[in-house]
Amino acid sequence: MVLSIKMKRDIEEIKKIVIEEIKKLTDSKNLEALKIKYLGRKGELTEVLRSLKDLSLEERREIGPLAQKLKKELEKLFTEKLKTLPTARQVKAIDITKPARKLETGHLHPLTKIEEEIRQIFLSLNFSVVEGPEMEDEYHNFDALNIPKDHPARDAWDTFWLKPENQKLLLRTHTSPMQIRYMEAHEPPFQIIVPGRVFRFEATDASHETNFSQMEGLMVGEDISLANFKFIIEKFLKKLFGEKTDFEFRPSYYPFVEPGVDVYMKWNNRWLEVAGSGMVHPEVFRSVGYDPYKWQGFAFGFGINRLAMIKYKIPDIRLFYNGDLRFIKQF
Ligand code: FA5
Repeated sequence: MVLSIKMKRDIEEIKKIVIEEIKKLTDSKNLEALKIKYLGRKGELTEVLRSLKDLSLEERREIGPLAQKLKKELEKLFTEKLKTLPTARQVKAIDITKPARKLETGHLHPLTKIEEEIRQIFLSLNFSVVEGPEMEDEYHNFDALNIPKDHPARDAWDTFWLKPENQKLLLRTHTSPMQIRYMEAHEPPFQIIVPGRVFRFEATDASHETNFSQMEGLMVGEDISLANFKFIIEKFLKKLFGEKTDFEFRPSYYPFVEPGVDVYMKWNNRWLEVAGSGMVHPEVFRSVGYDPYKWQGFAFGFGINRLAMIKYKIPDIRLFYNGDLRFIKQF
């Protein structure tokens, strides 16, 4: 008897709650969840129907039809409500006239852009592109390039030495050590470029950074002359800057070339050094086991940042790495 009263109350209660809840629903997913809560295998109304068997025949005759009736009613309510709700697809398609959300896409850094362009130009001139380590040893960065310890020329490359000091490891001060590494592992003839980051422990100004990029070049063969060098450099600069480009060769000195040449270009109304270069020094060939009487070659090291400063009219080298998006977004 007590059970039947409770069940009658449950049926009333369920009806009230479900009608209230259904009214509030706005999407079909929650409607399905509500349906399962009451009509599912373990649903509350299902439980009521299941416990009918515990009632007396008389009670069952009274409660049974009530429960069955509610079940039908609820099923109808659910079906009808479902028809009024948008499907998942319709929800997405709603208000197609709204402006789309703007996608913020990134883009390449100006140094990456110009480096890619330079790679393509040298590939078209039949050079190969190789890369090398940013952490170097003293031998490849200096000694093998004919810059022994105590050579005054070492002062030209203020060096970040790495700890422990007795290991004599450093952050490469130029890409030239890759000349040595490449020649140690290959036989001429060949022509390569080596783009990469270099590091110098020096004061910065509008045209000097402590961290910048260089592009080394090295061509070795029989009968390679300064004329070949000048031809390649001129071709390269004209492809990168256009036919009317202004540049100059000036005599210079590096221990690993003889003669040495600097390349200058106009930037901010003044001449700026963009590359050091020259004919590979016989001592360098000796250090990698090449016969300097048989092989000749030229080498160069361009400052990629400076080429970018000229090409994109950038007034200060420090803009590349200061993280100011107003600068970066212009490219
Ligand atoms: C060298 O580093 C030599 N390894 C270049 C070389 C290669 C000579 C092969 C001969 C044969 P230098 O220190 O001048 O040379 O640097 C080469 C270029 O790197 C410069 O012309 C300049 O364009 C760029 N550069 C040098 N120092 C800086 C700096 N602090 N910030 C930005 N660019 C620099």
